[in-house]
Amino acid sequence: MKINLLNHSAADWNTPLLVVFAADAAAAKDSPATPTLLSTHPTLQAATAPWLESGEFKAGLGETFLLTAPVGLQARRLLLVGVGKIAKFSAHELRQGAGVAVRYARPRSLRELAFVLPEHPSLATAPAIRAMAEGAIIADFDIDFYRADRKNLGMETVTILVSGVDATDASLQSAVREGCTLAESQNFARTLINEPGNILTPTELGRRAAAMAAEFGLACEVHSTEKLRELGMGAFMAVAQGSSQPPALIVLRYEPASAPSPDAPVIGLVGKGITFDTGGISIKPAENMDRMKYDMAGAASMIAVMRAIAQLKPAVRVLAVICSCENMPDGRAYKPGDVVTAMSGKTIEIINTDAEGRLVLADGLHYAQTLGATRLLNAATLTGAIGAALGQVNAGLFSNDDATAQQFLDVLSITGEKFWRMPCTDDYREQIKSQIADIMNTGGSRFAGATAAAMFLKEFVGDDPLIPWIHLDIAATTWLDDQKPWQSRGPSGIAIRTITEWVRSYAG
Ligand code: BES
Ligand code: ZN
Ligand code: ZN
Repeated sequence: MKINLLNHSAADWNTPLLVVFAADAAAAKDSPATPTLLSTHPTLQAATAPWLESGEFKAGLGETFLLTAPVGLQARRLLLVGVGKIAKFSAHELRQGAGVAVRYARPRSLRELAFVLPEHPSLATAPAIRAMAEGAIIADFDIDFYRADRKNLGMETVTILVSGVDATDASLQSAVREGCTLAESQNFARTLINEPGNILTPTELGRRAAAMAAEFGLACEVHSTEKLRELGMGAFMAVAQGSSQPPALIVLRYEPASAPSPDAPVIGLVGKGITFDTGGISIKPAENMDRMKYDMAGAASMIAVMRAIAQLKPAVRVLAVICSCENMPDGRAYKPGDVVTAMSGKTIEIINTDAEGRLVLADGLHYAQTLGATRLLNAATLTGAIGAALGQVNAGLFSNDDATAQQFLDVLSITGEKFWRMPCTDDYREQIKSQIADIMNTGGSRFAGATAAAMFLKEFVGDDPLIPWIHLDIAATTWLDDQKPWQSRGPSGIAIRTITEWVRSYAG
């Protein structure tokens, strides 16, 4: 999809679909809807006024109203898109509204449309432009890759029409580019997450990461069993040993053009890349097991963040460590009761082979520190328990450092994603104490399961000196069961835009 930013009068723009946003300006919560056009353009005002007054369209978030052959406009159709209450209007609602327009156009075989930049005092031009670009691209994704009747009606051109500002201004043009880069990277991850386990094996994930790295100029290494053994990654190897598919340890590196000072932070991103999680010997029930193809969403997110970073070029060093394998039951598979030694030297008693994500991450987190990372962030579809705690609304955020957690939460206002901080203080350490080994991988309690997993990961993060670390549990938010008016069902691509913004916040 090509996105253009132009100075042009909306009335004279020739397009199959002109999109204008409207908000509900109702004074009080229970007073009737007062749909208000977010454009002062007199021709648009005149064309839409009767319909805004008729009460047929209330400007609720995601609501649409189509006018054909609108009077006084070159456009063949005018689509009103609601963005909800005017007092709550932000880049987030605009991102969704832009997505609604794209998902209106696609099934009707309209391959191009034009947005009228909304006018609202609380939303500056550059963030509005970026949000529209992101929303349009995120909406232009569906999961039917393997269907003969794939409705591959992707948008060709989206034009953003602005007036009163110079569309050639560098900051506005870079807002378009940033929006495209972030959303295209999000869709890159969604494509990987949607792939079935027979196609996206650990080896194939390594190939896709290497191809991305070659395209965008990142250094990339893909290792397998031999290297795991050499590094002493006993936890990662234990999970991998039950599968006939070899594991993949993927390392991606981004170096800024001008070298930052040696004491500047080095960000280490670590991803759980289980390309299929059967549960292993502690096998999962058959119902919904097919979903466990998306147990590599954390890995896909980190590869996608590196793709975005390679293009946005922040002045900060970033490396990514992806631990990818299958979790299978087999004659050689690891078993409950086994004791394994992680790369850090800690011994782990295996209680449940379905708690495999924390094992591969334990070695990934340790390895990232040996490669020089001084700030760590991992993302993983780690526990069902995070869904019990937070539902499908917020993803879980765990951290050993308040300032680092806050730095992450602060960028949510830019990206519109939702994360909720959860505890992982040492009060919860009881849950992973073992009689047999240094720690156990689960089993202490049926309560606070998401925190127990975080406590386990924290064991592999340096505490003297403290390495600031964030763990994102995206198990319940990575796959949308139902489509939204602005987004397909399937992989959400959560966390990629926020992690990228968080990384950028470390640039000098
Ligand atoms: N991959 C699962 C977590 C998961 C569950 C992701 C649902 C997405 C949707 C993880 O490996 C797992 O099986 N966790 C267990 C841990 C338990 C054995 C302590 C769980 O959550 O049940
Ligand atoms: Zn599992
Ligand atoms: Zn898993």
